[in-house]
Formats: sequence, structure tokens, C-alpha cells
Amino acid sequence: MTIYRTRRSIKPMAMDSLREVSRELVLSLLEDAHWAPTHARNQPWRFQVFASLAARTRLGEGLQSIYDEITPVDKRIDSKRAKLSANPQLAPVVIALGAHIAPEGKVPEWEEIAAVSCAVQNLMLSAHERGLGTYWSSPPVAGRAEFARWLGWDETHRMMGLIYIGWPQEGQPAPQSTRDDLMDRVTWHEA
Ligand SMILES: Cc1cc2nc3c(=O)[nH]c(=O)nc-3n(C[C@H](O)[C@H](O)[C@H](O)COP(=O)(O)O)c2cc1C
Repeated sequence: MTIYRTRRSIKPMAMDSLREVSRELVLSLLEDAHWAPTHARNQPWRFQVFASLAARTRLGEGLQSIYDEITPVDKRIDSKRAKLSANPQLAPVVIALGAHIAPEGKVPEWEEIAAVSCAVQNLMLSAHERGLGTYWSSPPVAGRAEFARWLGWDETHRMMGLIYIGWPQEGQPAPQSTRDDLMDRVTWHEA
């Protein structure tokens, strides 16, 4: 088995919120992310790291305020709103993920989004190799331009969700996942 097959999404509630992930380790994961393929070497990935409890608390409050801004009162769901601030308390590191799309750039937007996704996969596999858990989370607020603005990013940025990083809690059963038959997704041309 390889890291490609054994990596699993580890939810924040299964992470050890009290066990720190050092700044050096986070930067090393981001350096691995930084070596992803990128058309025209645009390196469109942008990361905002929230690691201290104060920063993660502020992030949770920000996500909730955006939820309130974009969700009509009669559509608000208390449990969803609560999770936006609870999850960043559970994981020791949360990264807000952005893609920079150069205005009138020659690389189309989909390629920049794809490059950022490659960077995230590098990060997740590097973390897994070191025993760390990761979880890519995409609540609707974390994809919104309002969130980019809250982070101080201008309109050339697209939001791509949140990455949670933390040590898996000891004694938890390893999460399982499955995939459908590969050959349902492959067309092999013989001629
Ligand atoms: C772009 C992206 C966004 C995701 N967003 C969420 C999410 O919002 N909530 C969630 O439960 N899982 C999310 N996931 C994780 C998937 O649920 C997970 O990858 C899938 O269940 C397969 O499990 P595995 O990662 O352990 O193989 C996301 C994954 C990707 C690639």
C-alpha cells in the first residue's frame, strides 16, 4: 500500500485539538504544496494560516458573520452556523485556501483551480506521510467572495475552502473509505 491509497480525510472532531503542529512543520507542508505543477509557473495557490487559538476563534467568528450576511433569517440552520465556529476550535491548524486568477492572464481559470488542487494533494499526502491528518472542507461560505474580502483578498482571488490539519486522536479507529470500480471511469482505446 502507498500513501496515495492510505490517506484518509480526518475530520476536525477526530483531531487532537491540544497537540500543537509546529510552525516549521506547517511551513514544510506548504513548501511541498508549493512544488505542485503550475502552468506558466503562475503558482496561483494562496494560503492564509490560522494556527493560534485566538486566530482560529477569529476565523470562526468571521465565517459565522459571513453566513449571517448571505443567509436569509428563515433559511439559517443553527447547527450549520455553530459548526462554522466549532470546527476551527477542534483542529490546531486551519488554512483558508485561495486561487489567484490573474486578470486577462493567458492561463484559463480552470487551470489555476486545477493547479491549486494539485498543491492541496501534495500537502495532504505530505501530511499523511508524517502521521498528520487533513480534511478539505467546503461549506458554502468558504467558497464565497465575501470570505475572500474578509481575508483581505481582492477580486482576483477565488475561494477554495478550508484545510484542517492536526494529529489524529489516539485510539480512534482509522476512517475507512471506498472507491467504485476503476474501470467504470476508464476508457481504454485499443485502436
Ligand atoms: C474539493 C473538496 C472539498 C471537500 N469538501 C468536503 C466537505 O465540505 N465536507 C466533507 O465532509 N468532506 C469534504 N471533502 C472530503 C471528502 O468527503 C472525502 O475526500 C471523501 O469522503 C473521500 O474520503 P477520503 O478523503 O478519506 O478518501 C472534500 C473533498 C474535496 C476534494
